[in-house]
Amino acid sequence: MTKRLDGRVAVITGAGSGIGLATARRFAAEGAKVVCVDLDEESGAKAANEVGGLFVRADVTDEDAVRAMYETAVEAYGSVDIAFNNAGISPPDDDSILTTGLEAWKRVQEVNLTSVYLCCKYAIPHMQRQGKGSIINTASFVAVMGAATSQISYSASKGGVLAMSRELGVQFAREGIRINALCPGPVNTPLLQELFAKDPERAARRLVHIPLGRFAEPEEIAAAVAFLASDDSSFMTANTFLVDGGISGA
Ligand code: NAI
Repeated sequence: MTKRLDGRVAVITGAGSGIGLATARRFAAEGAKVVCVDLDEESGAKAANEVGGLFVRADVTDEDAVRAMYETAVEAYGSVDIAFNNAGISPPDDDSILTTGLEAWKRVQEVNLTSVYLCCKYAIPHMQRQGKGSIINTASFVAVMGAATSQISYSASKGGVLAMSRELGVQFAREGIRINALCPGPVNTPLLQELFAKDPERAARRLVHIPLGRFAEPEEIAAAVAFLASDDSSFMTANTFLVDGGISGA
């Protein structure tokens, strides 16, 4: 494998599972020093151990914890070159505008959107000092189109991530900091499996809308993240990067 990320320091949130875990493996294979952040101690530590990186247990909704995780990365490895702001949760049950309660709504915004605000807020000053950096924020294809399933709080949170990424990408471009939104289609991870376990027909409803006729594997998303993190995407910022099996093109 090419070593496009040789010597770069990457902080990945939600690194214990799914897309984050696959990306931690991919980044390490491409030569990066990886800081694996997760709320779940067991899976996060396991991921860090596997990729020869560092584990930081943090709740990405906790401002002090987010600030500290980047400081830990700098203390351990000297910089923060890549921030993959990826931790997130699935929609609550029956996530319709008519049924989702205010507390459930707020929780999804906090974990999926406020977390990205905090991660950008505390990663960017390190990158400003370095005069360079790449931030990838995980949104979703539902940020750009309505879904076949009702998930109002989730879609709204991801739309916020997309808008914020564009805004920040434009604002910090002249400082050498690239900020892109990653918009995966449905990916075969514990998050999706949990949704399908609750509502088995949801999988079939989803598949109808995916031209490639299947769900993505986490490694296919990790390959896209590695591209966005590397200099191969050096002329891309404020971008809506869809990796969705053709859903948005259909
Ligand atoms: P996952 O559930 O496999 O992994 C999410 C990880 O985030 C877990 O390790 C979990 O412990 C961690 N996490 C959750 N809340 C946290 C918090 N407050 N602080 C720190 N860590 C926390 O999920 P998956 O599928 O890998 O999702 C990753 C991201 O991709 C999420 O933002 C999700 O919304 C997004 N996404 C997922 C899609 C899918 O179909 N799986 C499609 C489009 C976007």
